[in-house]
Amino acid sequence: MDSETGAATLETKRVVSGELGQPKWWREAAFDNKSQGDVQQRVTELAGPALPDALHRLTPVILSGFCVPLRRSCDMANSSNRLEGKVAIITGGASGIGEASVRLFVDNGARVIIADVQVEKGTSLASELGKHVAIFKHCDVTLETDVEALVAFAIEQWGKLDIMFNNAGILGKTVVEDVQGLNMQDLRRVLEVNVHGMALGMKYASRAMVDKGTKGVILCTASVASVLGGLAPIPYTVSKHAILGLVRAASSDLGKHGIRVNCISPSGVVTPLLMDYFHDGFGDPNYTPKQAQNFVDTHANLTGHSLSPMDIARAALYLASEDGAFVSGLNLIIDGGFSASNHSLNS
Ligand SMILES: NC(=O)c1ccc[n+]([C@@H]2O[C@H](COP(=O)([O-])OP(=O)(O)OC[C@H]3O[C@@H](n4cnc5c(N)ncnc54)[C@H](O)[C@@H]3O)[C@@H](O)[C@H]2O)c1
Repeated sequence: MDSETGAATLETKRVVSGELGQPKWWREAAFDNKSQGDVQQRVTELAGPALPDALHRLTPVILSGFCVPLRRSCDMANSSNRLEGKVAIITGGASGIGEASVRLFVDNGARVIIADVQVEKGTSLASELGKHVAIFKHCDVTLETDVEALVAFAIEQWGKLDIMFNNAGILGKTVVEDVQGLNMQDLRRVLEVNVHGMALGMKYASRAMVDKGTKGVILCTASVASVLGGLAPIPYTVSKHAILGLVRAASSDLGKHGIRVNCISPSGVVTPLLMDYFHDGFGDPNYTPKQAQNFVDTHANLTGHSLSPMDIARAALYLASEDGAFVSGLNLIIDGGFSASNHSLNS
C-alpha cells in the first residue's frame, strides 16, 4: 500500500466511526448485498465529480473495506469535516474575522497556526482549542523574516501547508482625510501591513506549496473598499484595491501549480478594527458594539441579517475547501449587494 492509499485508509477508518448522516441517495440506492463492482458503478454514477480525485483512484481499495467514506465525500456540503487533514495558517487569527476562521477551520478538521502580534489573545485561543489542532505563533506580517519563519514553522510542525489565509490588516488613521491632506506616513504604514504583509504571506506560502507539490489555497481578506472609494479612509481603500491586484496577479501566476488564490471582501463587520473607526473616527470612545451593529445594519442593502465574522469565515471555508475546487482569481464580495447597488436615489 503506498502512502497516499495508507493515509486514505486511515481516514476511512476514522470516518467509519460513525457520526455521519446518510444522504438520501445512499439510502435509496440500497447497496446492501450488492457486489463491489455494482456499488462502484452506482457510486460513480450518482456522485461522479463530487468525489475527490484521490477517492476515485482509491475506490476499489475503499470498497473492499468500507463504503461509508464515499457517501461522506458525496455529502461534502453538509459535512463538518471539509478541511480534514489540511494544515492552515491564518494571519490576524487572534481576533475578529481571523478568530472566527480559526474556529471554523478547526471545527472542519484543519490544524491551524494562529499568526498574530497579539500574544495573549492568540495563545488563549490556541490553548482553548488544543495544541494538536491550534498553535499560536507570534508573527508581524510586515517583517519578511517573521513571515518566512511562520511558514517554516507550519512545515516543521505538521509537514506541509495547504491553506494560507492572509487576513491580518489595519485601518490606519480613522479620521477620514481628503486627498489634499493625506498623511503619507499613515499611507506607508497601511500599505506595509495590508499589502506588503499579504504579499509576503503569498511569497513564502507559495514557495512552500510549490516545493512540496501541494495544490494549496491562498486567501486574502480585502474589503468592499477594494471596489468602491469613499467608504473608508483613503490609505485603507488604496491598500484594499492593491490586494485585489495582488490576488489576480498571483492567481494568474500560480494556476500552473494547481494553487488557487482568492480574495474575500466584506462590508462592515463589528470587530475591534471597526470599533476603532467608531471610537476615533466618530470621536465617541463610548460607542458600543451594539450601536456599531445597528449603524452597520441601518446602512446595509440587504436587511434581515447582521453580517458577522462567522459569515466571512464561512466564505473562507468555501474557498479553502474542495467546494471551491475550480475557483481562483475571485473577489468574493460579502456585502449583501451593497456594492452592486446605486444608493444615490435612496431616501
Ligand atoms: N471589520 C470590518 O468591517 C472589515 C471589513 C472588510 C475587511 N476587513 C478586513 O478583515 C481583516 C481582519 O480584520 P478584523 O475586522 O477581523 O479586525 P481585528 O482587528 O479584529 O483583527 C485584525 C487582526 O490582525 C492583527 N494584526 C494587525 N497588524 C498585524 C501585523 N503587523 N502582523 C500580524 N498581525 C497583525 C491584529 O492584531 C488583529 O488580531 C483585515 O484585513 C481587515 O482590513 C474588515
